[in-house]
Amino acid sequence: MTTMPTRRLGGVEVGAVGLGEMPMSLAGRPDEARAIRTIHAALDAGVTLIDTADAYCRDESDFGHGERLVAKALAAWSGDRDRVLVATKGGHTRPRGDWGLDGRPEYLRQACEASLRALGVEAIGLYQFHRPDPKVPFAESVGAMAELKAAGKVRLVGLSNVSVDQIRQARQLVEVASVQNEFSPRFRRSEGELAFCAAQRIAFLPWSPLGGIGRGGSLGGRHRAFAEVAEARGVSPQQVALAWELAKAPVVIPIPGASRPETIADSAAAAGLRLGADELARLDRV
Ligand SMILES: NC(=O)c1ccc[n+]([C@@H]2O[C@H](COP(=O)([O-])OP(=O)(O)OC[C@H]3O[C@@H](n4cnc5c(N)ncnc54)[C@H](OP(=O)(O)O)[C@@H]3O)[C@@H](O)[C@H]2O)c1
Repeated sequence: MTTMPTRRLGGVEVGAVGLGEMPMSLAGRPDEARAIRTIHAALDAGVTLIDTADAYCRDESDFGHGERLVAKALAAWSGDRDRVLVATKGGHTRPRGDWGLDGRPEYLRQACEASLRALGVEAIGLYQFHRPDPKVPFAESVGAMAELKAAGKVRLVGLSNVSVDQIRQARQLVEVASVQNEFSPRFRRSEGELAFCAAQRIAFLPWSPLGGIGRGGSLGGRHRAFAEVAEARGVSPQQVALAWELAKAPVVIPIPGASRPETIADSAAAAGLRLGADELARLDRV
């Protein structure tokens, strides 16, 4: 197992680049053997944060697929599992393969129990409220997360898809270890939340950091500066995108998705790539 530069998430030291498990669970996913090889490649490359969710599945009939896959891959890995932080989420449903929301406290409690079973653990390392549910007062959903932490079912609480106001509101109720919002070369509208997290030393996990499934391979077009910097450096455009995100603040821990060992091994190398001020300024302007 290689080591990679680390960052802190709620007091836990994790590799600066994590793994997003989603491409291995949605429709179009690889077979289980390849998915397990991909997770092992991430761990072997020094990744110690794996992000999944109960809703990473094809539909409700295989709800929890991602969590079961991560548990199976970890059980079959020969390295030090104690160093790996598994982050999952609750609050999304998958009726007939669609994406629904349920932020009711009773639902979150039940979802957490199911995630504990799927992961085969007594406490979830990082449990994230997946997305605010407009039908449920935000404070009620976060209150349920706080109770799960107080009950010892969850070690750290995170939020996902939230505004600065919501982060502030949640912090009145529970210690917020991380915020997971979309952020990538093509999607920069979370810069406000990123800056807030940096100022408050809350870990910020950019989701779809390469632009999303199916787009991760293409950082051309309007974003060709990433490819040009990459060519000059002799690395992939994806590494440049992740290194640019890492340079935004010491709290940033990107979680690139992968369904092949080669792609996560390449992305993991971004943890050691330092871009210069000129390169960063150029990428900021894109
Ligand atoms: N909180 C939320 O609401 C939310 C929403 C979306 C995603 N997420 C999380 O964020 C994670 C990442 O987002 P994502 O999976 O949607 O998209 P992404 O990380 O932007 O892109 C993933 C795709 O990029 C490709 N890729 C990764 N590294 C590469 C490399 N070095 N070179 C070339 N291609 C590369 C992968 O290809 P291969 O498949 O061929 O390996 C994969 O399909 C998810 O897995 C999930 O954990 C959270």
